[in-house]
Amino acid sequence: MDRRIKVFSGNASNLLAEEVCKLLSIKPGLAEVGRFKDGEVRVQIKEDVRGADVFIINSTEPPAENFIEAGLLAEAACGASADRITLVIPYLGYNRQDRKDRPRVPISASVMINFLANRGANRVLLFDLHSEPTMGYFKPMVVDQLYGSKVSIPYIKGLAKNPFVVASPDKGGGPRAETYARLLGQEDFVFFFKSRKGTGEIKVESIKIVGNVEGKDVIFVDDIIDTAGTIVADSLAAKTAGANNIYVVATHALFSGEAFKRMDDSPITEVVITNTISHKPSELKAGRVLITSLSVAPLLAEAVRRIHEGESVSSLILS
Ligand code: R5P
Repeated sequence: MDRRIKVFSGNASNLLAEEVCKLLSIKPGLAEVGRFKDGEVRVQIKEDVRGADVFIINSTEPPAENFIEAGLLAEAACGASADRITLVIPYLGYNRQDRKDRPRVPISASVMINFLANRGANRVLLFDLHSEPTMGYFKPMVVDQLYGSKVSIPYIKGLAKNPFVVASPDKGGGPRAETYARLLGQEDFVFFFKSRKGTGEIKVESIKIVGNVEGKDVIFVDDIIDTAGTIVADSLAAKTAGANNIYVVATHALFSGEAFKRMDDSPITEVVITNTISHKPSELKAGRVLITSLSVAPLLAEAVRRIHEGESVSSLILS
């Protein structure tokens, strides 16, 4: 393919984009992604992208300016006559708000995706989406999705020395736990069911475990750690039920509020995350609990290369 490849990024994913560019042996695209004095997002692409194959990398965790940066970069590339624009969104925010589960609430996932989907980009590359049906909101863009398991399974294989069981931290995570268990050569997995109080807080006493964790290491797999309320409550319930070491594997680490303190005060041995959301290394090393961050850059770089070369991305998931 003759089209030049250009990779730009917003502030949420500058480091990750640098890693991806290094692996692709290209220089990161030149763009100013800053703020006006009043705080509004200010974007300018600082090099020629006419006819180029443009990739824009930005995760969209809060603040909402991360969405705006991704959208405005796409709009700028489109207005500058890029030939094709692919949004690469390692973590897609607002994706848990995917249904009208109470009266008078918006389906926020649809609103935020619509913003991105109408900025002139042709394709989107997503990573471990919380709500897969919301991919349809990106139409008519071409949508690809990669999975965290591709990055975490080789690492987990190194952890799983003693007898272990894979666990889903909640009802919705069943299919993910089943996949991880299969990839780790296990026939079965364990389910943790929880009920939340009106405040959203999880009562350990309300957790029911379907399956046996006694005398085994437990490997919880989840897509997101936000406040760490889910995994901490589940780890306490697992310990009470006689589990040995407790590992948590989650693709997207938001680590909001008291998450670090909660994990430190819990029976969790190690938390394995990826860098779809950036954290300072010092932040990850500060506490008792071991936090291991795996880079998704090699996988993203390979997917970007394949999209650029017109090769299959789904074969990358299956291989
Ligand atoms: C829920 O459906 C998700 O998969 C995560 O389990 C949840 O978002 C984690 O949130 P928190 O860490 O605040 O409990």
